[in-house]
Amino acid sequence: MTKVRYVQVGLGSRSEMYSEAIVERFAATCELVGLCDSNAGRLTQRAEWAQALGVQPRTYLATQFDQMVAETQPDVVIVTTVDADHDEYICRALELGCDVITEKPMTTDQHKAQRILDTQRRTGRKVTVTFNYRYAMPRTQVKDLLASGVIGNVVSVDFHWLLDTYHGADYFRRWHRRKENSGGLMVHKATHHFDLVNWWLSTVPETVYASGARNFYCPETAERYGLHDRGPRCYGCPASDRCPFFLDLTAYPKLKQMYIDNEKYDGYFRDQCVWSADINIEDTMHVIVDYRNGVKMSYSLHSFMPWEGYVVAFNGTKGRLEHVCQERVYISGDGTVQGALVPQGTRINIFPHFLPGYEVEVWASEGGHGGGDPIMLQTILAPHTLDDQYKRAADHRAGAWSILTGIAANRSMATGHPVQVSDLIHGLEEPDYMPMPGATEAIDPLPLRQSTAVRVAD
Ligand SMILES: NC(=O)c1ccc[n+]([C@@H]2O[C@H](COP(=O)([O-])OP(=O)(O)OC[C@H]3O[C@@H](n4cnc5c(N)ncnc54)[C@H](O)[C@@H]3O)[C@@H](O)[C@H]2O)c1
Repeated sequence: MTKVRYVQVGLGSRSEMYSEAIVERFAATCELVGLCDSNAGRLTQRAEWAQALGVQPRTYLATQFDQMVAETQPDVVIVTTVDADHDEYICRALELGCDVITEKPMTTDQHKAQRILDTQRRTGRKVTVTFNYRYAMPRTQVKDLLASGVIGNVVSVDFHWLLDTYHGADYFRRWHRRKENSGGLMVHKATHHFDLVNWWLSTVPETVYASGARNFYCPETAERYGLHDRGPRCYGCPASDRCPFFLDLTAYPKLKQMYIDNEKYDGYFRDQCVWSADINIEDTMHVIVDYRNGVKMSYSLHSFMPWEGYVVAFNGTKGRLEHVCQERVYISGDGTVQGALVPQGTRINIFPHFLPGYEVEVWASEGGHGGGDPIMLQTILAPHTLDDQYKRAADHRAGAWSILTGIAANRSMATGHPVQVSDLIHGLEEPDYMPMPGATEAIDPLPLRQSTAVRVAD
């Protein structure tokens, strides 16, 4: 059997999952033939890791990307660079005749998104966007429940995402802290959340209004902590013994090896001060979205919370579905499982109209990002082995729709006005979705005869 040939560009913490999957778990059908990064140190480290496992990928600096494709002849390019560079590699790979697997967000603004859509259409190649959140079993279960019609058709959504003072704070230390790199949290992080809503409801956004600010990760908060003598980064910071957000990268062997040991090649600091004046992303965001199917959503994202996870509620014509999900504490690349669920903190409740509410047993899910990572890897690296009945695999269309809500939110925050998504992009079709309960379907009148005095179960 001919193996599928992969190359990877961008060899930071997220990329490890793909290298390991190709070289170890899916070695029978996949082959890692090339590696590319702008940082010579991380490039060498990954190559040495692969060689220790008996695999010999060729190595290339970022300026040699075309050479890599020409010499290694990959079928698929995996893009895990800084978000704002995704479009360059996606488009170049498509032009050179490869399929692409790209990390989210597909890109960071509407112009880059349009370029990707146009290039994909012209080349006819395949783009997969790795929305691992869809694959976590509780989130798949929500899709299953909504599609079953248990709460009728959805009329509105309340969705509130909390990033904690560990993982949430980390966005303010890394390249993500500048909007020109990440699109801000409305794009970088909320692409997951807006994709979930699009996919859960089988629809796309039409109008977006947003308000946001940087209220916490700013010099004023540092002053209130008494951190007057803080430095530009945690490493060597004079205020480290008093700062509750001090991160000692040298205390984590993986983080030290990946970032501190490679600073000398590109001058990138992974532990910049969360209180810096030059951060330009928001830490507090509120968004209202109108969807094509008539659903209205209120959404918020806060990044300095005491716990991490989310609360989402769907209000339907037959009742309400509430889902709470708590994730374990981690920071990206610390060597622990990222975004694992706290089982006792993950619940789904159904509240039918006029009947007692009940708790649903949550589908078990283990592994990175709520158990989504291992299932997603199987779907994209060994698609013939899994049935995709929920249509979880996402392409360029889903990738674009997921970022358009955040891009529109960024524009709305800047202008103070609602934004029409159709003004941002053209020629973008809806993704392939599962059919959902229709807004015109008859509502079973039986529950209306039940006593409205029934108390909701605890
Ligand atoms: N799906 C998820 O849950 C998830 C989780 C974490 C990260 N991500 C995504 O993965 C991507 C990488 O994030 P990360 O946390 O690994 O970041 P990182 O900073 O650890 O790694 C980025 C890598 O890209 C390299 N790089 C930077 N500019 C480059 C260029 N122009 N050409 C080639 N290489 C370049 C850097 O040297 C580094 O090795 C991002 O797009 C991020 O949004 C997704």
